[in-house]
Amino acid sequence: MAKRTIVSMPGDGIGKVVLEETIRVLEAAGFKANYVNGDIGWEFWCKEGNPLPERTIKLIEEHKIGLFGAITSKPKDAAFDELAPELKEKGLVYSSPIVGLRQHFGLDICLRPCKSYIGNPLNFIRRGQGDAIEEPAVDVAIFRQNTEGLYGGVEWSNPPDQVYEALMTHPKFKKNFEWCPKEELSVSTRIFTKKYTERILRAAFEHAKKYGYKSVTVCEKPNVIRETSGMMYKMAQQIQKADYPNIELWNTNIDAQMMWLTKNPETYGVIVAGNMFGDIVSDGFAGLIGGLGFACSAQINPEKGIGVFEPTHGSAPKYADYKVSIVNPIAMIESACMMLDFIDENKIAAKIRKAVAEVIKEGKVRTYDMMKMAGRADVVEKGAASTQQMADAVIAKL
Ligand code: NAI
Ligand code: MG
Repeated sequence: MAKRTIVSMPGDGIGKVVLEETIRVLEAAGFKANYVNGDIGWEFWCKEGNPLPERTIKLIEEHKIGLFGAITSKPKDAAFDELAPELKEKGLVYSSPIVGLRQHFGLDICLRPCKSYIGNPLNFIRRGQGDAIEEPAVDVAIFRQNTEGLYGGVEWSNPPDQVYEALMTHPKFKKNFEWCPKEELSVSTRIFTKKYTERILRAAFEHAKKYGYKSVTVCEKPNVIRETSGMMYKMAQQIQKADYPNIELWNTNIDAQMMWLTKNPETYGVIVAGNMFGDIVSDGFAGLIGGLGFACSAQINPEKGIGVFEPTHGSAPKYADYKVSIVNPIAMIESACMMLDFIDENKIAAKIRKAVAEVIKEGKVRTYDMMKMAGRADVVEKGAASTQQMADAVIAKL
């Protein structure tokens, strides 16, 4: 079979090391691929004025599959300060290349699974009856609409006249906000389209069906945000009734969900939400299974067969320059397993997941976060595994 080509985008900071170690794991597991390097991140903003160069977009267009580490983003002024002197006059404005990738390729389906590993000392525990300690097994798959909603970027401060006039035609705007001078108004819109709402809902139901989850929970706020959340829930009811009668449809409000997730996280299966609530609820569940060192994700355009797979953590700049890297590579390794699932290499994915599970269960090799240490350069001397040692341990189990 022809070898696949994977666009490897290490990005900045710890993105570089977690991706390098992950590729080592993939190779050891017998996944045969060519890796081409895709430039992305801060370095290219500073040198070229574009953190997502056109050549990287071309590579993804051609090869369709990307593994992404992490990037560094900085506020507008700091970004401008670090721009190469010859680019400073060009009126360039920094924007996040990962958000850019999502929008350019329409990676509207974001999946963030949160499944606890047996033996992970970071697993959530709670008090049961009497003084009993319970460690609920969390196995939740969060589907987040990745391109619309509050992160769609349609926003204004001191909105243009036509926008202001349009807003004034809404009785509630007139009643509640007319008092505010236009110059003091900031507006961020929350746009949902039927097409992409249906896509994320169907992806969630399909996943529940394929992997045997008994419920799909819409996690929004339809009682208050009636138009967007309301549309999503109503469509979910129709889809469930027509095509997934054997899967239960639940409806929770995002605020209540954040409370329920520490009371009874084991109750939930598939969760589906718009962009911002999906972002929030996925971080909430990730906290129950070990946090950023374990939180993986897939971002997919199913129509075009394009997928970019990445840990949800950032570039952790404070650890980036340690001589021996201390960060946990599992989130990146797990993200690569999601890539393998996407390209039908399920057997290799299962093999890697089993190896990771064995390392965690055995408990001999643990990165600093798993040892509940503060992240410092000397953690390896104190008994924590380095990034490389963790990858070695996984490879040894393969
Ligand atoms: P971060 O995720 O980089 O780090 C937060 C803290 O989490 C770290 O200090 C570290 O204690 C811990 N951590 C992160 N990854 C870990 C790992 N693999 N193993 C163990 N511990 C880990 O978030 P922060 O500090 O808010 O942002 C740093 C930079 O990353 C910023 O420039 C931010 O814009 C960017 N960022 C990029 C993302 C991306 O590329 N998708 C996502 C989040 C932040
Ligand atoms: Mg987030």
